[in-house]
Amino acid sequence: MTLDVARIRKDFPVLQREIDGKPLVYLDSANTSQKPQVVIDAMTSFMETAYAPINRSAYQLAAEATDLYEGARTKVARFINSTKSNEIIFTKNATEALNLVIMSWGRANLHPGDVVLLTHLEHHANIVPWHMLVAERGIKLRWVPLTADGQLELTNLDSLLNGVKVFAFTAMSNVLGTITPVVQLCAAAHKAGALTIVDACQSVPHLLTDVRAWGADFIAFSSHKMCGPSGVGVLWGRESLLDELPPFLGGGNMISDVRLDGFIPAELPAKFEAGTPPITEVIGLGAAIDYLERIGMHNVRQHELQLSTYVLNTLTQRFGDDITIYGPSNSEQRSATFSFSFRGIHPHDLSQVLDQHNVCIRAGHHCAKPLMRVLGTNATARASFYLYNTEADADALANALDSASDIF
Ligand SMILES: Cc1ncc(COP(=O)(O)O)c(C=O)c1O
Repeated sequence: MTLDVARIRKDFPVLQREIDGKPLVYLDSANTSQKPQVVIDAMTSFMETAYAPINRSAYQLAAEATDLYEGARTKVARFINSTKSNEIIFTKNATEALNLVIMSWGRANLHPGDVVLLTHLEHHANIVPWHMLVAERGIKLRWVPLTADGQLELTNLDSLLNGVKVFAFTAMSNVLGTITPVVQLCAAAHKAGALTIVDACQSVPHLLTDVRAWGADFIAFSSHKMCGPSGVGVLWGRESLLDELPPFLGGGNMISDVRLDGFIPAELPAKFEAGTPPITEVIGLGAAIDYLERIGMHNVRQHELQLSTYVLNTLTQRFGDDITIYGPSNSEQRSATFSFSFRGIHPHDLSQVLDQHNVCIRAGHHCAKPLMRVLGTNATARASFYLYNTEADADALANALDSASDIF
């Protein structure tokens, strides 16, 4: 193993927990990740010693809080290799970040008949806002289909991009684990004159992110999937594009002036951070980034690569045709998130039986109903691994699956 996972596990208090004398096997990190002590401590310490409003008050405590909040913005910028911290906008979550850019950019730039390109891999957060613009603006949606093993079918990408205004796609599927070729997709979109919005919600916690190398225009992700707290998400955009966008939410903090007959928005990033932000959570995200950087995103990826190969081998060797694992069969092309069906047992039943062994997985449509329809199913079981998971967790999953067959 590339990582000292035994040591890493000690950083996560909840992983020390036993239920009915059995250890917790947490395999739902694609949903939300667990939190290391350093993140919990950073948030507690801020609330105990330096909690104050940011940006508004002249006293020292508020200045300290503002420094911590803005310090986290600098950490996020560094983590994704953005040139400027004012390209980082804090939102409530990735969903709000996507809605911000889709609605703000879309309402200003899209007209009836304009085409937006999406893919069959998308999460509802990168589908539903577009459907709302279909109703509001009369735009049209076009879709990149999938290959049999759950990768994007890119043979006709250039013709799919023909006349497209914006190409919005995931960097990593939350259902199939598919890693998409972001650099290639951004380059093809730009060649066709389209902007790119990358849903990086699944990839940022697991892969090294380099927005400059990607060539993307906007990316969105959530803190809670990358060891940080819930309640904060990130929109990154190119400064020149963000400067042109109208504000999304109006209120305090996002203005430079307000009169009876109108308002003047603030400069970036305040323009998009209306109201009191999630101050403590942003500071927690900063601590999560410090933590992940200390471990090294390259090491996280190497660990998950080894683990993916182990999971794929274990489940296919042990269960053969009784298990269908959706998505790429090659670990290099996928994350350690596995959607599967097993011996015809309904995923919800499966997850309940697994829960009796303290194995936590997710069952359902994973907020990707169009993809479920493409796969020809209503729901899958999904086991998702992260830096704190081990081969023993994969074995526990396999053992628990075996026991489910005894019941059904
Ligand atoms: C690929 C993808 N996009 C967007 C989201 C939405 O993230 P959030 O619920 O944190 O807004 C998720 C969450 O599962 C996701 O997996």
